Amino acid sequence: MRLDKFICKSSEYSLPEALALIEQRRLVVNDQVVTEASHQVHQNNVVTLDAQRLIPRPFRYFLLHKPIDMICSNIDEQYPSVFNLLTVNRPSELHIAGRLDADTTGLVLITDDGHWSYRLTSPKHQCEKVYKVELTRPLSADAAQRFQSGILLQGEAALTRPARLQVIDPYYVYLTLTEGRFHQVKRMFAAIGNRVKALHRQQIGSLSLDVKLGDWRSLTTAEVKSLAGDNESQSIAITDAANPTNTPYS
Ligand code: URA
Repeated sequence: MRLDKFICKSSEYSLPEALALIEQRRLVVNDQVVTEASHQVHQNNVVTLDAQRLIPRPFRYFLLHKPIDMICSNIDEQYPSVFNLLTVNRPSELHIAGRLDADTTGLVLITDDGHWSYRLTSPKHQCEKVYKVELTRPLSADAAQRFQSGILLQGEAALTRPARLQVIDPYYVYLTLTEGRFHQVKRMFAAIGNRVKALHRQQIGSLSLDVKLGDWRSLTTAEVKSLAGDNESQSIAITDAANPTNTPYS
């Protein structure tokens, strides 16, 4: 973590205040005065401010059920930000691990732990995300095979990673992805001549949506660890808490 961020995370100082403290040569990392705000601080470093040890607050991890017409951004834009729902201190320190479009509902993970969110979102770690998709046209017979083989999305050079399609009925499917390209679900269906009418993310790794629309909760330590683990590439059972028998939504 950068030294300026480390100061903010271990105190009530704002970023400009942290920068001023660094400039005033009041920060010492492992017995060396540090004057660079970008200096990388590692877990086992001893950082002091005016000879007082700084200890960062623990990372925070939240699950939120995003409603439609809210955006995954730290600030309100055309629509209000989902952070309006998350009534916690210092929301500006948090970010979203895998954004959803304004018209998508479902499971959003929010944290201030950049390494953790990288593991969830980087295609390298193959963390599965399950979407429930409503289509405007009946699903074509070859859709599952085409998604499994990879789709060339408009304007991109690489095929999408193999994706798993589970058909509920011709207009409703579950789609499991291990990457998160821009508008990926909508673009994949557009590439096979269909259109997404409604989109809902109901699972990330082994974590299913288990709070009501607009609600949120903290993750347990076990959940945080399991999502960051190396077992994310394993297939996960699709579970829909609101619809345990997977009856098609009407
Ligand atoms: N894919 C999309 O097209 N939109 C989302 O919000 C998430 C995945």
